[in-house]
Amino acid sequence: MLGGKKIIVGVTGSIAAYKAAILVRTLVRQGAEVRVVMTPLAKEFISPLTLATLSRHPILVDFFDPEDGRWNSHVALGEWADALLIAPATANTLAKMATGVADNLLLTTYLSARCPVFVAPAMDLDMYGHPTTRYNLDSLKSYGVRVVEPGEGELASGLSGKGRMAEPEEIAAALSAFFARRRSLAGYKVLVTAGPTIEPIDPVRYISNHSSGKMGYALAAELRDRGAEVILVTGRTALCPPDGVTTVEVTTADEMFRTASAAFERCEAAVMCAAVADYTPVEVSDRKIKKDGGAWTLELRPTQDIAAALGAVKGDRLLVGFALETDRERENALSKLQRKNMDFIVLNSLGDEGAGFGVDTNKITILRRNGTERAFGLKSKAEVARDIVDEIEACRAERA
Ligand code: PMT
Repeated sequence: MLGGKKIIVGVTGSIAAYKAAILVRTLVRQGAEVRVVMTPLAKEFISPLTLATLSRHPILVDFFDPEDGRWNSHVALGEWADALLIAPATANTLAKMATGVADNLLLTTYLSARCPVFVAPAMDLDMYGHPTTRYNLDSLKSYGVRVVEPGEGELASGLSGKGRMAEPEEIAAALSAFFARRRSLAGYKVLVTAGPTIEPIDPVRYISNHSSGKMGYALAAELRDRGAEVILVTGRTALCPPDGVTTVEVTTADEMFRTASAAFERCEAAVMCAAVADYTPVEVSDRKIKKDGGAWTLELRPTQDIAAALGAVKGDRLLVGFALETDRERENALSKLQRKNMDFIVLNSLGDEGAGFGVDTNKITILRRNGTERAFGLKSKAEVARDIVDEIEACRAERA
């Protein structure tokens, strides 16, 4: 239920705006405090008075109150809310959200909101299926925006297909489910490793890999959202550390080993998502090594396997690993699961388009120690993180 939750409902210019009245009434009946922000065009589809009456608060549309010139602070609104829900969300608003356009109060509120954001798209089937809309929705998902998928059926255009805004009860149920699980990991201490390691050869050159950190950061954010205390040990990435997560940046595999091992002592679980170099140069030159025209042989030594080291001391703590494979995927993943004493391993393959390094999406199979397997389709890394954290919760519940 939504008792005491503060929810901003954003309404945009779609025929489905009439359903916003039922949505606002449903949220208020379930105990939520609702403030409505409308785009200027939304006022053409539904009267602000209707939404003001149902939400029991004045409607916000303009940056300045037209009556007394008072500034409507989008920053204060974003800080006030426990969730921002944009329903209906038009293709136009989704495109602006995806690209950072901030030309109305709702969009500035979205850009400054620190709370979870939900969108319930509503549009014609061809607009919904258009590659641009698909791309914008994928971008928004990769930023952690949650999409309440539209339904199929008769559309305002007279056509039939996918694009009808989800029913108000479904949208309210999605919010309730989110808040119900939000504190489900309260107090649980979890180590997450992410990103690449960098193994220097000389002051100029190094050995590394293509990990962007996106998958590990999405996991840290999802665990945090469910109330866990997260320690993120990360190689160098171009990403901003997630708010509310203790982040420690490291460079080499040896540093990651030391930092992660120390952090694991304070944790009840670890998720090993980093792409750790398996080998590092035996010697690091303090001067740039000059080329002499001939071949160059670099001597490497194996690094510590961090996951295996944690697996050896884990006791009844939960250990989750990843397997990044290019061939014999299942077999290699199962071997790592056993060898490193993991509770489950998340297999992703570079053979699957849209999976693995750098991209905003991933395609995983979860292989459990007890022999069960779950394969998932291609999803945003934020959604993949939800599936993995659901599995962590399932393992935890089985042990309780
Ligand atoms: O960062 P992104 O661009 O979003 O990409 C995500 C990802 C592809 C890096 C991620 O999804 C992933 O697969 N991470 C693990 C990559 C990897 O090193 O896989 P592996 O199969 O080589 O290693 C198996 C497991 O042992 C992993 O949990 C790894 O973190 C761990 N390991 C490996 C070597 C080592 N020395 N220490 C380790 O802890």
